[in-house]
Amino acid sequence: MITYTQVAESAAYLRSRLPALPEIALVLGSGLGPLAEQMQDTVSIAYAEIPHFRVSTAPDHAGRLVVGTLAGRRIACMQGRLHGYEGYAPDEIAYPVYVLRALGVQALILTNASGGINTGFSVGDFMLIEDHINMTGKSPLTGANDERLGTRFPDMTFAYAPALREKAQAAAALCGLELRKGVYCGVNGPQFETPAEIRAFRALGADAVGMSTVFEVIAAAHCGLPVVAVAMITNMAAGVLMQPLSGAEVNEIAARRGTDFRRLICALIEKI
Ligand code: HPA
Repeated sequence: MITYTQVAESAAYLRSRLPALPEIALVLGSGLGPLAEQMQDTVSIAYAEIPHFRVSTAPDHAGRLVVGTLAGRRIACMQGRLHGYEGYAPDEIAYPVYVLRALGVQALILTNASGGINTGFSVGDFMLIEDHINMTGKSPLTGANDERLGTRFPDMTFAYAPALREKAQAAAALCGLELRKGVYCGVNGPQFETPAEIRAFRALGADAVGMSTVFEVIAAAHCGLPVVAVAMITNMAAGVLMQPLSGAEVNEIAARRGTDFRRLICALIEKI
């Protein structure tokens, strides 16, 4: 359970370390960490130094908060996030969202690597997440609710803020990049899905699948922080192409499409 006091302590620590407060928060998904290296005038704080933060163990997730300037705005960038498959509870995964909100950010940009379920998608595509299906069966809001953090029954209708989605589409057009749209299905992992699971998710209306994002979005809806989320399709989901999947493929595609992805995110930041 997340307490208001813990969030306030984490935020107070960060305020004491930062020369200026961030305006926008950015979470970098698998293989997308290098975006943080484009930031200027940075202060880098390891999660291990921040009171009440947990430390990420996922490969290629650096585990630090980098605060600095990107595309002319003050950005707090989470270089590495926590996942359910690492053994973290949903509220531990969602915790940083409340801290970023307490620091005063106006928007949360989430990125992730996903498997493409929609057969019209191709490896390397970018997908604007319009909505999600939480297949983990869990919520970061389970347990007692502290009204100072958010309401007991948050509305998810506009969790993926329509105004920010429009800005993402405008940013993609400006960059000359195609931006698919679709529904993200969040699973626990770490195993990739079975082909039967992917067929089931498709029947439910999912376009992409991944092992992150849904808890952070639920937390953001809870604390009233507008979210925009962009997935990189690093592989077609299990059974779409009759070939095995691998984590190496995810990172290879993320690296190959990294430059365009960074352009898109920077153009989006400029529009927020
Ligand atoms: N499934 C789940 N998570 C993923 C995938 C996938 O196919 N690709 C990247 N993250």
